[in-house]
Amino acid sequence: MAHYLATVLPGLEFVLKDEIGVKIADADYQGLERGKVHFSSKLPLEALMVLRTADNLYRPIHKFQVGPHKIHLAEIEQEILKCDLSCAYLNGSGMISYKVNASRVGKHSYSRFDAAEAAARGIARRSSRFCRSTAEMHEIEFRLDINCEDAVFSLRLTDASFRYRQQVRMFTQAALRPTVAHALVWFSHPEETDVFIDPFCGSGTILFERLSYPYSRMDGGDLSQEAVEASKQNIGCHDHVGIHRWDARQLPFASGEIDKIVTNLPFGRQIAADEDIFALYCDSFREMKRVLSWNGSIVCLTDAGTALKMAAERIQLNCSEETTLSLKGLHPAIFLLKKS
Ligand SMILES: C[S@@+](CC[C@H](N)C(=O)[O-])C[C@H]1O[C@@H](n2cnc3c(N)ncnc32)[C@H](O)[C@@H]1O
Repeated sequence: MAHYLATVLPGLEFVLKDEIGVKIADADYQGLERGKVHFSSKLPLEALMVLRTADNLYRPIHKFQVGPHKIHLAEIEQEILKCDLSCAYLNGSGMISYKVNASRVGKHSYSRFDAAEAAARGIARRSSRFCRSTAEMHEIEFRLDINCEDAVFSLRLTDASFRYRQQVRMFTQAALRPTVAHALVWFSHPEETDVFIDPFCGSGTILFERLSYPYSRMDGGDLSQEAVEASKQNIGCHDHVGIHRWDARQLPFASGEIDKIVTNLPFGRQIAADEDIFALYCDSFREMKRVLSWNGSIVCLTDAGTALKMAAERIQLNCSEETTLSLKGLHPAIFLLKKS
């Protein structure tokens, strides 16, 4: 069994753990930390590319203990000097440019940059094939995570196209990260009979993620023509998928026609200055409730939790807060709403 470390946005660890359990048949779950899920599997790396909530996958190379003071940075260099780094050798026998990122939790008199620097020195001493790169252009990336006195040194296995999905090209200003959009989709328990909509679809990130599971019909729409164009370009042509310009407060569906609604509600500066967020949420929830089937569900993400809860109460939708995320200094939460 190979050991893998999957990184994920803090708040989504349990979603990724669930996704691993469902999609990776032989996965042996080994624990969670903030923003990380550890597991083992015999499957090759290509088979793990189905994990869409993960930001990156890493191969842990070495675990060791490290002291809290600057004098202990030499221990990091020494420990890494001992590692077998052959897993990082690329094809051929040429030079390999590398970079080290480090994270640090606990009380230490050195910074994460000092720790990364010490690790980089260890790698350079380990083999003359490794050449350091400070620029963004590097062939391989190592990671050093220090949690109090425990250190884990890993090799990154995935590149940016893993989490940014090479296919999605046009982003609008408020575009969600694809991994977060996938987590929202996962909360809706995708089924092949689903009639699915995203009423505030923006650039279509949620719809794009939903495409990776079978569905019966899927529609998305936005008030902004620019967003509708971005969505159309990002999603492309698929049977039984429609992108429309619409106002989410007046959806073109019959009552009870929709099974699943997954959306990233507008909040903050995405709302026009003269618009009241509570009123927008009330009006759009009233409409979502009308089009939703009796056992349907709404999964939504917003930073305006108070307005959402008040609107859900006003419209008489059952509302539960599923998890809070840590996203670029904001703390939006994922909510699940159902007809009472
Ligand atoms: C948070 S963004 C959605 C971002 C999207 N999830 C993405 O990844 O690109 C919210 C979107 O709601 C749209 N919007 C605001 N009011 C609307 C309304 N009344 N009806 C439909 N869309 C609306 C905005 O134009 C914006 O694109």
